Amino acid sequence: MNLLITGGAGFIGANLVLHWLRNHPDDVVINFDALTYAGNLENLQEAKTHPNYRFVLGDLRKPHEISKAFSVHNVDAVIHLAAESHVDRSILGPVDFIQTNITGTFNLLETARKFWSADLSAHRFLHVSTDEVYGSLGSAGKFTESTAYAPNSPYSASKAASDHLVRAWCHTYKMNVVTTNCSNNYGPFQFPEKLLPLLIHNCLQNLPIPVYGDGENIRDWLFVEDHCEALDRVFQAGESGEVYNIGGTNEWSNIDIVRLVCKKLDKELDRSGDNSCEKLINFVKDRPGHDRRYAVETEKIEKALKWSPRYSFEQGLSKTISWYLDHQDWVKNITSGAYQDYYERQYG
Ligand code: NAD
Ligand code: DAU
Repeated sequence: MNLLITGGAGFIGANLVLHWLRNHPDDVVINFDALTYAGNLENLQEAKTHPNYRFVLGDLRKPHEISKAFSVHNVDAVIHLAAESHVDRSILGPVDFIQTNITGTFNLLETARKFWSADLSAHRFLHVSTDEVYGSLGSAGKFTESTAYAPNSPYSASKAASDHLVRAWCHTYKMNVVTTNCSNNYGPFQFPEKLLPLLIHNCLQNLPIPVYGDGENIRDWLFVEDHCEALDRVFQAGESGEVYNIGGTNEWSNIDIVRLVCKKLDKELDRSGDNSCEKLINFVKDRPGHDRRYAVETEKIEKALKWSPRYSFEQGLSKTISWYLDHQDWVKNITSGAYQDYYERQYG
């Protein structure tokens, strides 16, 4: 199979490309990525030497670049991850989110529909989305696959729009699509603008750790390798037209997770007292429209596809912290350039 993975140079995409090559070495994996600030080929060192790995520098906003990749590589199936993914950036400037997440998904669907027109049902299209499309929860309940969409940020609205396009292309044109909606991922290769890697980075640099609002917003955290396994299961065995929620059943308030990581870092770095990482915690102005709580009901994927996370939070977090401590050059490279501008605009 010739599998096109979009966004394979980003955080989850890179983990998925590596997962795929390790677990399906006979498949050809074509990584289609525009290498925005979030895309980094350093994430793919291990893939570079694999005989079945290909890289295409391509932009979803340019339909001819997608068509070229389909014809050159004779694409059989797609896993679509490429997106603008950071909520704060979507608030600062939404246009890229509209163009990549909505128009880009439309361009990809149309190209796939054209190339696979002889037998649409034979070609799988897995659309990777987020639990943020469901909006915000109160203190009780969880998002299920039938929760009504209520996106609140430009990012989540753009992802919701892309989910609707995918749904419509299945319903109207009978494309063989599956959609996943996953909670917050953490793990190696995550860009240090997202809470966990930003927090580790700032502790190591002795910079303030910005905690938005009262720090009591809740997220559900899943180790990225567990997400990749779930995507693999959905791709192989998910029913066409179905949606599967993916999550870690692992809710944490932001302030609790920040304190937990600070404690772990203190231990690793032998810090205490006034030098303790917790001393860097700085409550700042809240994110506009900040969703209060996310929690995901995962019964459907657990029962129908026999997936559940393999990593405990303890294991995933230890692996993640060790990875960042061991890859400071990676952090240094990625935080130079575009990141600096963003960081200064965001935190002054
Ligand atoms: P990321 O920001 O780390 O990576 C995105 C990748 O997409 C980058 O490599 C970037 O270069 C590429 N890209 C961006 N615009 C492009 C364009 N126009 N054409 C081609 N490539 C382009 O994102 P991530 O955190 O790995 O998220 C991947 C996907 O998973 C996204 O669709 C996101 O909505 C979804 N998701 C993320 C999380 C999470 O916690 N990170 C959770 C659930 C779902
Ligand atoms: O739920 C899935 C989503 O998780 C994905 O779709 C998104 O792509 C991904 O970025 C993530 O979105 P969040 O907004 O939840 O992630 P982020 O790491 O930006 O923030 C996590 C929580 O921490 C959120 O409540 C905001 C808060 N936060 C974040 C940052 C960056 C802070 O308090 N301080 C910060 O500096």
